[in-house]
Amino acid sequence: MPHIKVEPFDTNLIDSSIGFVEFVAKSNGVDIALVVHNGVRLFLDIVKREREYLIKPNGVTKVSDTHILKEILNRFAKEFNLKVLSSNTNIKPYKPKSAHWALKSIEDFYDFKSSYKNIKLELGFGSARHLLYRAKQERDTLFIGIEIHTPSINQLLKQINLQSIENIIVVNYDARLLLEMLPSNILDIIYVHFPVPWDKKPHRRVISRYFLDESLRVLKKGGFLELRSDSQNYYEYSLDIFSQPKVCSFSVKKNIDIDIISKYEERWRGMNKDIYTLRVDSLEISEDRVLDIDFEFDINSIDDLDFPSKSIVKDDYFVHFGKSFKYSRGFVVEVSFGSFGMPEKKMIVCDGSQCYYLPSNPVKSLVNKKAHNLIKEVLNG
Ligand SMILES: C[S@@+](CC[C@H](N)C(=O)[O-])C[C@H]1O[C@@H](n2cnc3c(N)ncnc32)[C@H](O)[C@@H]1O
Repeated sequence: MPHIKVEPFDTNLIDSSIGFVEFVAKSNGVDIALVVHNGVRLFLDIVKREREYLIKPNGVTKVSDTHILKEILNRFAKEFNLKVLSSNTNIKPYKPKSAHWALKSIEDFYDFKSSYKNIKLELGFGSARHLLYRAKQERDTLFIGIEIHTPSINQLLKQINLQSIENIIVVNYDARLLLEMLPSNILDIIYVHFPVPWDKKPHRRVISRYFLDESLRVLKKGGFLELRSDSQNYYEYSLDIFSQPKVCSFSVKKNIDIDIISKYEERWRGMNKDIYTLRVDSLEISEDRVLDIDFEFDINSIDDLDFPSKSIVKDDYFVHFGKSFKYSRGFVVEVSFGSFGMPEKKMIVCDGSQCYYLPSNPVKSLVNKKAHNLIKEVLNG
């Protein structure tokens, strides 16, 4: 992580009139400076030690491009004539990395539209053997691959290049939350092959009552969800969920032959394990879903606040307030919240009579909406 160490200086003297630093907020031992540089807006942490101050990008708001982080740190030291004791911010020749065309962010699905008539989705694709095979077999179908494991994402992106595949898009996110972003009635198939059984932590399972409802909503009438598992426990758990009343039908098969065997299936077959295939068919057209979630704060006056020191934990989400900082017009507080599997970490800046999230608003998921409402309650005292 780029950083600089400088001789101690008076952070009150940082001049916000030059348009680089918006303000400096303070807490015990650490000040934070909100800076804007070439369209990037982030906090720098100024960690005060006896003989030196360490200046580094704040972990919550930092960007991934280390070149920009170095530029910002060097500019900070130069603008305020700081005496640099040591740094690792030498700028090397730089070629900005362009993102892979197939890699989408979760926000890209807020207003998802596609020219493909058929769309299929695989979640937890792992080595992507099944996903790549299907995409090559069905070139006129769009495949959406979702994974939480970043190396699997990178491996798939490489294969997309090597095999000149044009009909896969990839998302690095928790599949349980992605379905919420999708419009109703757009998918032909959802593949869930060999999900982690999580026998000791069932709340982490992909399959749940809510997941089934969301799957049936995004599936077209006549579309289906295909779950394959080697775990009898997971199979029985899923069967129980699928057989609760809902407009769908399901079927179960054991040890069927299919035309492509995934890495995990190969392993379980080698161990002579039984493999269950459950299929849930969607039988009706679902109502449209509009993502009408905003993250406004509508707070009238902002006073000095005491934040709860303990996490507030609800059934499906939590809110945890971290370090808070004060400045002349208001305060900044670090907050983690949302789902247990894919929590959000943000800074909330309350400035005069308005509050906002940095570096950006949370993802528009229902649990984030619930967490945001709880955060508002706390901020409103
Ligand atoms: C046991 S592996 C199976 C991989 C592949 N489907 C196969 O059959 O070889 C389960 C995969 O699901 C991914 N996964 C687990 N939970 C997930 C979630 N909530 N959202 C997206 N991917 C998830 C894991 O990272 C892992 O790659």
